[in-house]
Amino acid sequence: MAIASWNSRFLTGIEIIDIQHEALFEAVNTLADAVKVNNASLRVGGYLEMLVGQTQEHFTTEERYLTETGNRQLRSHLEEHRALNAKLHELLAKQKNGGLVSADVALFFAEWFAHHIAEVDMANGGTGNKPAPPIEA
Ligand SMILES: [Fe+2]
Ligand SMILES: [Fe+2]
Repeated sequence: MAIASWNSRFLTGIEIIDIQHEALFEAVNTLADAVKVNNASLRVGGYLEMLVGQTQEHFTTEERYLTETGNRQLRSHLEEHRALNAKLHELLAKQKNGGLVSADVALFFAEWFAHHIAEVDMANGGTGNKPAPPIEA
């Protein structure tokens, strides 16, 4: 069973962002499957690199959108992105030095993306299911 299951509650209504989010779920599931089946360094490392690349591409797209639309939560949103980026790079470095990627790591990413998309990205200003959060003073 996939650890990250995509559904319509994650739709922000911003097409490019929704496409990238869904692809990120797939990348997390691919990584989780590779870890479960065989923690062979090359395969897992390749999928981890793919997840890092897709995440960075997505963050670039989303941050550009947030900046262009004058999003009021830009700063705190960027902080969440930076924190995940740091975690991904730390993990990639460990993996390249021979460290094993555990199933818990894949689960962490599944939960991070589900939480971040539902709680933070949903306020991006699209036609999300959630109302935008109150404007900061
Ligand atoms: Fe985000
Ligand atoms: Fe996002």
